[in-house]
Amino acid sequence: MSFDLAQTLKDNEGENFRLHSRFMNPQMARVLKTLGFDRYYTKGEGCYLYDRDGQRYLDLLAGFGVYALGRSHPVIKQALHDAIDADLPNLVQLDCALLSGLLAKALVERSHEGIERVIFANSGAESIEAAIKLSRYATGRKRILYCDHAFHGLTNGALSLNGGREFREGFGPLLPGCEEIRFGDLDALERELRNGDVAAFVVEPIQGKGVNLATGDYWHGVQELCNKHGALFVADEVQTGLGRTGRFFCHEHWDLKPDIITVSKALSGGFVPVGATLCSAKVHDKVFSSMERAVVHSSTFAQNHLAMVAGLATLQTLDEEGIVDHVKVKGQLLMDALSPLVERFELFHEVRGMGYMVGLVFGEPRSLGLRARWKMMEAARKGLFSQLIVVPLFHRHRILTQVAGDNMNVIKLLFPLVAGDEEIEYFVQSFTDVLEDAHKNSSLMVEFGKTLVKSAMRRDGD
Ligand SMILES: Cc1ncc(COP(=O)(O)O)c(C=O)c1O
Repeated sequence: MSFDLAQTLKDNEGENFRLHSRFMNPQMARVLKTLGFDRYYTKGEGCYLYDRDGQRYLDLLAGFGVYALGRSHPVIKQALHDAIDADLPNLVQLDCALLSGLLAKALVERSHEGIERVIFANSGAESIEAAIKLSRYATGRKRILYCDHAFHGLTNGALSLNGGREFREGFGPLLPGCEEIRFGDLDALERELRNGDVAAFVVEPIQGKGVNLATGDYWHGVQELCNKHGALFVADEVQTGLGRTGRFFCHEHWDLKPDIITVSKALSGGFVPVGATLCSAKVHDKVFSSMERAVVHSSTFAQNHLAMVAGLATLQTLDEEGIVDHVKVKGQLLMDALSPLVERFELFHEVRGMGYMVGLVFGEPRSLGLRARWKMMEAARKGLFSQLIVVPLFHRHRILTQVAGDNMNVIKLLFPLVAGDEEIEYFVQSFTDVLEDAHKNSSLMVEFGKTLVKSAMRRDGD
């Protein structure tokens, strides 16, 4: 008998949390149950997820930024069906495959003129691993600088550049020579670069953890200082790249020319893992300097045809549907709709971001009653207030959002890039409703408490 996917899904419907608790990550299953996020999703389309009861959820996580074109985009689906049906000679390995060559060309054509070569990978973290190796070899230097709150993935090399203690603790010793500096602090960067032993400064144009932005002056300074001191400037565009911020690459907002650019997430079309490290011919030639060194860096699946096809179809669709300009216009609309709420609600302190990468920042209110409630929540757990918003957004309004990082009162919105007026309006309305409640009375807290109690009871029944 052949494998029957539909039957397999039918036979095991709703078993997802039990399987994860038993065979995968029980703690993750507990977290999701505690928040009441335990659903059995059966379909994903465009900006929406659907559960087994046919309920629709607005997905503002977009698979952590993967779903630029929304879920199940028909062009990407068709391209992948076509690739499978064509019985293409995938992963010949001792070959120069056409499709990876085409995707490399398409990426280079969309980059600044200093970018000439591409090394493919299977994930964002792996594209960072390549950036670390390239930088060290090409410069002959060992040290790598990264920022506080940085997130570049969780493999050992990428973890060595992680600015969050919660991720690093207990996994050491990590890569030697990696030094943390403050995001946005040019003096700190210069102090480190002055020694002349820094291979690279690896940095996100907008930090994912917290949605932190730096000024144009900072970025121009980064470019200048790296050039002056012979360190490579590595822009990690894994999350910000491919239109998310209203430009194809986020660094284009400040006319920067990084030496190395990493991409991943959206390039996959949401279907096939992929990553890429883009660099100059000069850097590449230093590392791959002879025929003996032709294989010093690679990965078995990195150029797999399905990933290459998904990437090519994604780039073409981004162009054809004018997605980058769409994000620029709609991102501004979203920002304009959210900004007045900062004036109106004292717990809501700031909205920041670019395009469809937006941070909603909460903080201590002025009025006494509210302040007492805020303090109580913060004393229970730092950053708990943002969960008080995330949970009712999900339960009342069926909107999936996330807290932007550990111990912070920032919610991050990653709209699918195809989202339009309908999604923006629905989010702003729903967010306003939740904020009104958070300011009016403590019913939101009671609701939140109930969710926790209900989940705890369900957990006991596992
Ligand atoms: C900026 C950035 N770099 C790297 C990564 C790691 O990517 P992956 O999870 O595919 O390894 C992420 C993931 O969120 C990211 O946001």
